[in-house]
Amino acid sequence: MQKIDRSLHLRSRTFLRADNCDVADLAAICEVATDVTDYPLAATAEKGVLIYGCPTLAPRLSDPDFADALMAEWADALANGPGVIVLSGAEPDLAMIDRASAIFRELIARQNAAGTGGGDHFAKPGANDRLWNSLEKHCLADPVNFARYYANPFLALVSQAWLGPYYQMTAQLNVVNPGGASQSPHRDYHLGFQSADAVARYPSHVHRFSPMLTLQGAIAHVDATIEAGPTLLLPHSQKYEPGYLATSRPDFRSYFDAHAVQLPLKKGDMLFFSPALFHAAGTNHTTDVKRMVNLFQVSSAYGRAMESIDRTAMCKALYPAFLAAKDLTADQIANTIAASAEGYSFPTNLDRDPPIGGLAPKSQAALMHEALAARWTPETLNATLDAQAAKRLP
Ligand SMILES: [Fe+2]
Repeated sequence: MQKIDRSLHLRSRTFLRADNCDVADLAAICEVATDVTDYPLAATAEKGVLIYGCPTLAPRLSDPDFADALMAEWADALANGPGVIVLSGAEPDLAMIDRASAIFRELIARQNAAGTGGGDHFAKPGANDRLWNSLEKHCLADPVNFARYYANPFLALVSQAWLGPYYQMTAQLNVVNPGGASQSPHRDYHLGFQSADAVARYPSHVHRFSPMLTLQGAIAHVDATIEAGPTLLLPHSQKYEPGYLATSRPDFRSYFDAHAVQLPLKKGDMLFFSPALFHAAGTNHTTDVKRMVNLFQVSSAYGRAMESIDRTAMCKALYPAFLAAKDLTADQIANTIAASAEGYSFPTNLDRDPPIGGLAPKSQAALMHEALAARWTPETLNATLDAQAAKRLP
């Protein structure tokens, strides 16, 4: 009997289920005040969000002891505190931001003229303009402006505070147009970009480490009043462990709608939060403000395997063997696919491989399963693998 109890306990502890989520547990975690005295370098806390005054901090950043103290505070705030910080006045060179905005507008105009891009994860088409991979596009369009933009010491320091050194920067521009409706509440990459069914297959320690692999952030390119719909945030919600399973439940959405907070941002302010924080872009109620924010998604150096492997070549070599296999069950073939094909949709080129109709584009492993189920010829499979690989190229 004890063995059975132990087994049930381990299963429920390891495999979290949306059905077992209780909104009262989220409320107990979120309905605590953020104590600004826990964060001596913060200027204040507003609506539970810690605000750091960057013009005051900037002259001290060259002192390594001070930088360590600031990073330690941010790491604690993101993991154990409210999960969200505002770096007020993080970029003081507003003319440089305006130049970047002009570059982004030009790139969006070119994208719209070409009819490319624009697929979005969490918003209706047309409500916003997306520039996927604004990092590379910005760099190639104006290296001088890019060099100045990413020279920002606060962006570097907060990335290192959460991820350690050798982090990998990515950025995506989002412009929420007047009338653009709010997003659905969600968590972010990695588990936040998986379907509920996929999320449920990951053991609970992955739910805990997923947010450790990414830092989510943004810089405001325009002054965003509350009316313009700055990001809706639910402070402390990153600490609710089964949250990746709960964001789609109506009771959790209602709780988010009732308790999420918004802070006005000025041009040059930065916002950083744990990817496990419940959040959503707000509705733009203005008639004339195009709310431009550049989103930073910074990845841990550790989100990669030790060896680089040509998995497309492996899939091509294996497929005829799978078709001819007499001594392998479908489950055994699935095991071999899991050991050979790329099972994950990312990284990809979101312009060519957009997440329309789902959160993630089709993976190489999913393509292998589709080919086997339909008994494609090797030629068809090879051509489709090549086309898929081409879509994922930088
Ligand atoms: Fe998000």
